[in-house]
Amino acid sequence: MPGIVIVGAQWGDEGKGKVTDLLAEQADAVVRFQGGNNAGHTIVRNGTSWKLHLIPSGILHGDTICVIGNGVVIDPKVLIEELEELRARNIATTPERLRISANAHLIMPYHLMLDHAGEAKLGQLQIGTTRRGIGPCYADKAARLGIRVQDLLDEKILKKKIIAALEPKRLSLRPYAKDPRLDLQTMTEEYLTYGHRLEPYIADTIRLVHEQLDRGRRVLFEGAQGALLDIDHGTYPFVTSSNPVAGAACIGAGVGPKDIDEVWGVTKAYSTRVGAGPFPTELDGGMADEIRERGGEYGTTTGRARRVGWLDLVALRYAARINSLTALALMKLDVLSGFDRLRVCTHYRGAEGARFDDFPYHQTVLHHATGEYEEMSGWPEDLRECRDESDLPLAAREYLQFLAESARVPIALIGVGPGREEVIWTQASESLVAGNSGSPTPAAAR
Ligand code: GDP
Ligand code: IMO
Ligand code: MG
Repeated sequence: MPGIVIVGAQWGDEGKGKVTDLLAEQADAVVRFQGGNNAGHTIVRNGTSWKLHLIPSGILHGDTICVIGNGVVIDPKVLIEELEELRARNIATTPERLRISANAHLIMPYHLMLDHAGEAKLGQLQIGTTRRGIGPCYADKAARLGIRVQDLLDEKILKKKIIAALEPKRLSLRPYAKDPRLDLQTMTEEYLTYGHRLEPYIADTIRLVHEQLDRGRRVLFEGAQGALLDIDHGTYPFVTSSNPVAGAACIGAGVGPKDIDEVWGVTKAYSTRVGAGPFPTELDGGMADEIRERGGEYGTTTGRARRVGWLDLVALRYAARINSLTALALMKLDVLSGFDRLRVCTHYRGAEGARFDDFPYHQTVLHHATGEYEEMSGWPEDLRECRDESDLPLAAREYLQFLAESARVPIALIGVGPGREEVIWTQASESLVAGNSGSPTPAAAR
């Protein structure tokens, strides 16, 4: 102990990479527990940007062990590229630093094809997936037709499993029948090569994580995506195919609920969403464009323009509840500087006029719900130099207080710029395990 989970409290891209990198400074291990390379986690250090898709956001810290847990779906080609890119940038990615669960599932060429084909077939109704094969891979996992990392180490097993996985997909894959990537021999050889390359990294990651916890070491569990993209709790079917909520850290890393001490929810000071699906506080026109440009709201993985909206407290309260959040990291407050008035959604109004203080469970209600707002004063000041709560303008502090009270979760960390030093550790962080020593400066010096 202690175990600290970091999750997205919105629709992804909240700044989990930055928060994980910051907390990793005091951590011994960082474990990614779900999702795949649909994720894009950004870290900005000394003006240099790092975009990670599969490798945990602790990798820039020389002595932190990074673990890709069993709950992650791995595209081995992408993982190898990511390893090579890091190495080219002088980041050590030796097997001592990175361990990959033998039980994690692999994204195969046909998963990418099925993801493309599935979206094409849905036409107007498409989900807007990242087309990285995530959904089809998790579907195979559930259907018990998945190929796991450990299968890369045995040619006979690998081939057998590929044959079994391909069989029920013949019809859907017909348009790709002539694609050389689908040839059994080619695919097997390609994946065996990946296996050779990844073999030194493959490990019993559950044992490793428990060894760390048993020794009292600090372990971070890094989530991908966000609560509203959760396959059970999000805006289904406009969701990803895994569980980005904190409970999934147990499953995707192989620990029990009692191994978790804190759950940090990362949220922006406003909302964004990539892909289709309900978004009750969505803005359009000039205001949306302005926030998008100021916040650089373009997908880290796909480059798509993110949809933008006001902060949604209905959704945030829901995220706080389903994750048992113990702290909030509120990022991108700086992006809101310069607006006269800001709005925060306190509840929804349904098409029939009903008021919703809680996140509506019914898809039809949610699709037609619109946000109702508390209007608050903005602030003209640039926040990027603020390092203490007292440096913030009064209106910004009021905005934060309103948010924390409504979400009923203390704000431990405030983001005031993309750089890792552009943060404020609040007083609330001092009573938290991660906040206490996770901060780059000791409490007394802040
Ligand atoms: P993740 O998927 O949750 O890790 O988030 P992304 O990396 O996809 O997107 C967050 C973006 O916001 C990245 O470009 C970060 O560099 C940037 N960012 C993070 N925190 C802040 C902040 O406090 N202020 C500003 N302006 N940018 C931030
Ligand atoms: P990070 O970890 C934002 C979205 C996609 C799409 C839906 C399903 O960087 O926050 P998928 O490819 O998972 O089947 O797509 O989920 N999505 C994300 N949106 N951030 C992410 O990850 C996302 N990963 C998936 O845009 O709407
Ligand atoms: Mg992202």
